[in-house]
Amino acid sequence: MNQPSAQAAPQRVVVITGASSGIGLETAKAFAALGWHVIGQGRDAERSAKAAAAIKAAAAQGCKVHFLRANLSLMAETKQLADEIKGLTDRIDVLINNAGGVRDQRYVTSEGTEETFSANHLAPFLLTRELMPVLETAAAESEPGAVRVLAVSSMAYLQPQHGLNWVDLQRLEGEFPAGAAYCEVKLANQLFNVELARRVAGKGIVSQALVPGPVATNFFKHGDETMQAYEKTAQTLTPQEVAETLVWMATAPETGKDGGRMFYQMAEHTVQPHGKDPVAAERLWNESEILLASMGY
Ligand SMILES: NC(=O)c1ccc[n+]([C@@H]2O[C@H](COP(=O)([O-])OP(=O)(O)OC[C@H]3O[C@@H](n4cnc5c(N)ncnc54)[C@H](OP(=O)(O)O)[C@@H]3O)[C@@H](O)[C@H]2O)c1
Repeated sequence: MNQPSAQAAPQRVVVITGASSGIGLETAKAFAALGWHVIGQGRDAERSAKAAAAIKAAAAQGCKVHFLRANLSLMAETKQLADEIKGLTDRIDVLINNAGGVRDQRYVTSEGTEETFSANHLAPFLLTRELMPVLETAAAESEPGAVRVLAVSSMAYLQPQHGLNWVDLQRLEGEFPAGAAYCEVKLANQLFNVELARRVAGKGIVSQALVPGPVATNFFKHGDETMQAYEKTAQTLTPQEVAETLVWMATAPETGKDGGRMFYQMAEHTVQPHGKDPVAAERLWNESEILLASMGY
């Protein structure tokens, strides 16, 4: 008698930004080794080519790996990246908004945005919004909480206890304290996490954030002298250790509920009050929508 063949479970799909280096690269390798379809993004041509080869080399048999390039300081390239990703898959199980970092001074993009703000906050905001339909497709076919959006924030979010610089969110005017701008944008990552978690909970999607701690990557090389001096004294984790926490955050039952939380080294981090202020989280969301709309997105 012919038995109907069991429906094979769809290959799970993870999108990881900033996969050409550091935390993102090690996380992409870890997911590829687990047999996921990995879609990575990088910016630098040489690092991206090397990373794509390393992820493919780490991949389990039959696992698909795609690697795309985009400068996420630019919303035009962020939107194009989203379109390219949607051309590769009709479902996304996990989106990891990891790309970003600190700068040594103010750089204003050709779109008129400040780079620290646009790469670390506006790009993940736009990318998540553009990819929401394919995250929802995966959520409709999965257990509640299986589909997740993860933000790579930082302990730097602890610094601006006064909250964000609402009068000039991007710090386009006056002095540019590069370290302070970075701390504020990492608070923005967490506030985005809080508001996103609230908005997608009803769809069975969970949003969480990572605070990696100091990690031995290319991160510090992009910063000013203070940042580079800090690297010499900091007790750093390896990117592999941080990737382990991200895989756990993406797959474990305990991290797949009660969104808006933060995690550090395989454990929950207690979010400080300014990192879970619902008024600030909603205001950031609205201001980001207004800014993107003014840019045509
Ligand atoms: N390392 C730490 O101590 C530390 C601590 C807390 C939080 N973090 C956060 O962890 C995340 C990953 O950083 P990492 O430590 O792995 O540093 P990394 O080795 O410098 O990797 C950063 C990744 O993000 C990409 N990226 C940066 N700016 C970009 C842009 N404008 N457009 C497109 N891609 C961009 C880089 O691409 P290319 O290399 O191809 O240019 C690279 O793939 C960042 O969000 C960072 O803020 C790091």
